[in-house]
Amino acid sequence: MPLSVLELFNEIKLKTGSAQIANWIVSEAVAKPYFQALSEGLTPDDDSVSKALNCARRLEEGEPIQYVLGRWSFRDLELIVDPRALIPRPETEVVVEVALRCLTKRGVDHPRILELGTGSGAPAIALATEIEGAYVLATDLSVESLSLARANLGLYTDRISGQMELIRADWFRAIDPDEQPLIDHGEFDLIFSNPPYISQNDYDRLEPLVRDWEPRSALVSGERGTEQLETILSLAPRYLAQRGFVVLEMDPAQIGSVVDFARGIGYECEVFHDLAERERGLVAKLLRDDHRRIGDSLTTL
Ligand SMILES: C[S@@+](CC[C@H](N)C(=O)[O-])C[C@H]1O[C@@H](n2cnc3c(N)ncnc32)[C@H](O)[C@@H]1O
Repeated sequence: MPLSVLELFNEIKLKTGSAQIANWIVSEAVAKPYFQALSEGLTPDDDSVSKALNCARRLEEGEPIQYVLGRWSFRDLELIVDPRALIPRPETEVVVEVALRCLTKRGVDHPRILELGTGSGAPAIALATEIEGAYVLATDLSVESLSLARANLGLYTDRISGQMELIRADWFRAIDPDEQPLIDHGEFDLIFSNPPYISQNDYDRLEPLVRDWEPRSALVSGERGTEQLETILSLAPRYLAQRGFVVLEMDPAQIGSVVDFARGIGYECEVFHDLAERERGLVAKLLRDDHRRIGDSLTTL
C-alpha cells in the first residue's frame, strides 16, 4: 500500500524528531514544497519514498542537514552544498552585508572585489549578483571547493551584471601555471575573506557535526588560529586600490589580537557584530598613502 505524502512526512518526523526537517526532506524527495504536495493529494512514488528514507538515515548517522539536502540558502541564493566545501553560515551573510554597506558608503561604482578562500562560492556569488557591474575574482586553494564554486556560479551567471572569475591560489599566489598572477588582475576596492580560523586544539574539541563532515582545510588555520588572518592582512596592501579595504570574518575571541596585529602594520580597524551581537570581524583600511610599499615589505611573510 503506497504511503500518502502526509504518512511519509510523519514517518520522517518520527525518525528525525523535527517537523521542520521532515518538511525539508519530503519537499526535496517529491521535488516540490511539502504543503503543495499535501494540498494536491500527491502519492509519492517509490523513488521519492526511498530518497526521503535515505535522507533520514544519513541524518541519523550524524551528517549535517545541509549536505543531506544537497542545497542551502545564502542571502537570496540557493546553492549546491556538499562535502567539497564548508557549509555557508549565517554569520557570513552578515559579513557580506557589512562589505556591501562599506562599498555603498564609499560610493565606488563597478567595484573590483577579491574573495580569498571562496569555498562553495557563496560570498563571491552574493557580491557579484548584488552589486551592479562588479568585477569579482574568487580564489581557493582546494580544487574540490573550486569545482563546487564553479557549479554554483553556473546557476547564477544570468544574474551577474559584471563579471566573476574563479582561480586556484594560495591566498594571493596563483598556483596553476596557465593562471595569471593575481597582481596582474589589477587592484581591488574590497578584499573579502572568511579564512580558516580555528586552532588545532580547538579543532580537536569541535562538535562532530562539523569536525567529522566539513573539510578540515576550510577550518584549521594553525597553532593559534589567527595565522591565516595575519597572512591575508600582511599581503593585502599590495593588492588594494587607493581607499580600498579588507573585510575579514573571525572568531569573536580573536578580535583583540587581530586588531592589534592589523594596527601594528598600518591599518585603521572597525569591528562589526553578527546577529547574535558577538564581535564577528573587522573592516581594515590603510592609513598611509604609500600602502603598496607596506605590502612590498611584507610579501616575504
Ligand atoms: C572558512 S572556509 C570559507 C568558505 C566560504 N568563503 C564561506 O564563507 O562559506 C575557508 C576557505 O579557505 C580556503 N583556503 C584555506 N587555505 C587557503 C589558502 N592558503 N589559499 C586560498 N584558500 C584557502 C579553504 O579551502 C576554504 O574553502
